[in-house]
Amino acid sequence: MSFFDKKIKPSELFPPGFVDIHSHLLPGIDDGAKNIETSIEIIQKMQALGISNFRTTPHVLGGVWENSSTTIKEKEALLKAELKAKGMDSIQLYASAEYMMDDYFYNLLMKNDIIPLKDNYLLVEMSFLNPPFNLSDIIFQIQVKGYKPVLAHPERYIYYHDDFSKYEKLIAAGCLFQLNLYALANHYGKGVTKVAMQLLKKGMYTYVGTDTHHLRHLYAIEKIATQKNKKLLSPLFENTIRDFSF
Ligand SMILES: [Fe+2]
Repeated sequence: MSFFDKKIKPSELFPPGFVDIHSHLLPGIDDGAKNIETSIEIIQKMQALGISNFRTTPHVLGGVWENSSTTIKEKEALLKAELKAKGMDSIQLYASAEYMMDDYFYNLLMKNDIIPLKDNYLLVEMSFLNPPFNLSDIIFQIQVKGYKPVLAHPERYIYYHDDFSKYEKLIAAGCLFQLNLYALANHYGKGVTKVAMQLLKKGMYTYVGTDTHHLRHLYAIEKIATQKNKKLLSPLFENTIRDFSF
C-alpha cells in the first residue's frame, strides 16, 4: 500500500465547512429517513463522520413522490425544530430538492414552484432506465428560467457508460456533474465505480454529495476514507464549499 492509499479517519476526509448537497434526511417525505428519530440519528452519525452542513434534497418525482415547496418546507421546519430541541446547534440544514426531470417537474418549473440548492443551482436527476426523450429541451428550459442544472450521480446512468460523448454533450449543454461519494465504495456496483473514477480523472465532475438515504449507507464513508481519495476529491470538495456554504 502506497502512502496515498493510507486509511484516514472519516472526519479527516472532509475539509472544514464541507456541505453535503445531496441527501434524503427529511422525515417521511420520500425513500429516505422514515421518521424524525431516524432523521436525527442519521445526522448525528454523519456529524461524527465529519459532516455538519446539509442542503438536503428529498425526491420530487411525478406519480411517486409528488412533493412541492410546501410539503418540503413543512418537513424542514419540523426537523429544524427537533434539531433545536436536541441542542444540535452546530448543524446547519436547508431543504432543497432532487428533481426528476419529468412532466411533474416541468409543471413546477413553469409555475416557478422550485427550491434551488442555493442561488440558482438546481439538483436534477434522470431515470436509471433511460434519459427523458426531451432531455435537451428540459435542460434548455431550466436555463431559460435562470437556473443552473446540477446533474445528480451521472455515474449511475448506465446507458451512458459506453459513450462518454453523451456526458461531454451534457456538460457542453450547461450541466454541472455531482458525484455520489458512495460510488467510490462500490456501493452501486463495479461498473458504476469504474465510470465514476473515469469521470473523476477526466475532471468532469464539479461537485460531490453523499446521497445518503439511511444509516446503512454510512459504512461506505469509512471505506473510502483514504489519503488517495482525499486528494482525488479535493477539487470537488473545494467547489462544493465555494458554491454551497451557508
Ligand atoms: Fe438522491
